[in-house]
Amino acid sequence: MPDTTTATVASIPLAPRALPLLGHALPLLRDPLAFITSLSGYREMVRVRLGPSSAVMICDPGLTRQVFLNDRVFDKGGAIYDRIREVIGDGLSTCAYPLHRRQRRLCQPSFHPTRLTGYAAVFARAAQAKAAGWRDGDVVDITQEMMTLTTRATMETMFSGALPEETMRRALTDTSTVVSAFFRRMMTPALLRGLPTPKKRRYDEARHRLSATIEGIIAERRADPTDHADLLSALIGAVDDESEGGEKQLSDSELADEALTFFLGGMETTAITLAWALHLLAENPHVQRRLQAETDSVLAEGGGTLDAGRLPSLGLASRVVTETLRLYPPAWMMTRTLREDAELGGVRLKGGSTIVLSPYLLHRRSDLYAEPNRFDPDRWLGAQPDRATYIPFGAGPRKCIGDQFALTEAILALTAIVARWRLVPVGHEPFQPKVETSLSSRGLRLRLDERRTSDADTTTAVRSASTPSTTTAGGGCPLDHQE
Ligand code: HEM
Repeated sequence: MPDTTTATVASIPLAPRALPLLGHALPLLRDPLAFITSLSGYREMVRVRLGPSSAVMICDPGLTRQVFLNDRVFDKGGAIYDRIREVIGDGLSTCAYPLHRRQRRLCQPSFHPTRLTGYAAVFARAAQAKAAGWRDGDVVDITQEMMTLTTRATMETMFSGALPEETMRRALTDTSTVVSAFFRRMMTPALLRGLPTPKKRRYDEARHRLSATIEGIIAERRADPTDHADLLSALIGAVDDESEGGEKQLSDSELADEALTFFLGGMETTAITLAWALHLLAENPHVQRRLQAETDSVLAEGGGTLDAGRLPSLGLASRVVTETLRLYPPAWMMTRTLREDAELGGVRLKGGSTIVLSPYLLHRRSDLYAEPNRFDPDRWLGAQPDRATYIPFGAGPRKCIGDQFALTEAILALTAIVARWRLVPVGHEPFQPKVETSLSSRGLRLRLDERRTSDADTTTAVRSASTPSTTTAGGGCPLDHQE
């Protein structure tokens, strides 16, 4: 096809305040969110420079979607993916296009809706146990608390809870060591990364032990291949009939990569989503009271049971999670590398170019969302999240495979927690996100006050006055939305 586009990458405006040699490294390192938000004035694309390398940042929802949908050309690759592969190998989230379709077909059955019902029971049980363990007036590091909750819930859904307590505890510690070292390693130049510092040694040990734990579990499962109704059984049993040339089933090393991918990919993102949601509820007591009213009524109807069957009635909890993911999308930016020359938005881009996509930027654009910085779960009442402008899980063929898994877990956990606790902010300073690989809530503390019968009475009264319904009437339940 003849090339009718004339514009070159030089026609894309360069973001302001680029310094010689450093480019935009300083504003990006100092306050990445402020820098990214400052770019939302650019309607289509803007160039950003980091030292000698440059990237094209996409500011437009339509162009963002084009990039997501064309994963053959806009592929995963480059330095960031090299670092991630160090830990999770060539699993589903890191592999390049030629390997992706087979892996996706093999992993998809693990997330089939029929399996979600069983996973939901585990999530609810784990969240209720966590909520039962706090004491009145406890001030907790809520991110850490949510990490232990999601690690346990992910371990149990993956490996059917048959893990000895000691293995579980070690996996929790190792996961936290690996996750916290991840971002630092990404930002550290190759030469320094290899230095045998104590931190590097701890990171290597934790990474190897975590892999060994998972490989050990896989070996045991191979010896006893009955279906344990967990994620690992689904992965082991998956057969790809469309596979041409490749193996029809996952090998042991592929299984280990996928298990680690799900484990690390799902555990931290869901934990920080929950921590942010609890923070937002603490800051917005009127929403918290309404949520407690919804929770009281749903639990009363179900005789105190919390499971997948309750989800359609948890409309406000679902909207709170949707709104939390808009304000604090854990994957605040993603990158792609062009596999070949391509046109985007009328501009010719060269193979090898880096593209940056940012849910955070789109979610905070005032022309896309009224009062974008305000926490307003009711903006989703009767409104379906738009596929182009609401992208906490990405889009297209590489969209998060665990989106329904995460939403189910987050909604049930939120419900279990607010049913029992009133969340109160600690300190007077507004809490700022820590910008790492994820938009982290690390260090966020909340006070937990036990709810008393009188609270429940008051909240019920509040519900009658201000909540039209405790069901999903009017929509807003992200569980209904599929790409
Ligand atoms: C709130 C929680 C979560 C958020 C915000 C989230 C976000 C995302 C995003 C944005 C992507 C696309 C990345 C890209 O296109 O570059 C993604 C992919 C992925 N996520 Fe999640 N995720 C969450 C939970 C989970 C869970 C619970 C699992 C597994 C148990 C999981 C497993 C994956 C995998 C395997 C991929 C790669 C999919 C592919 O390339 O085909 N995620 N996630």
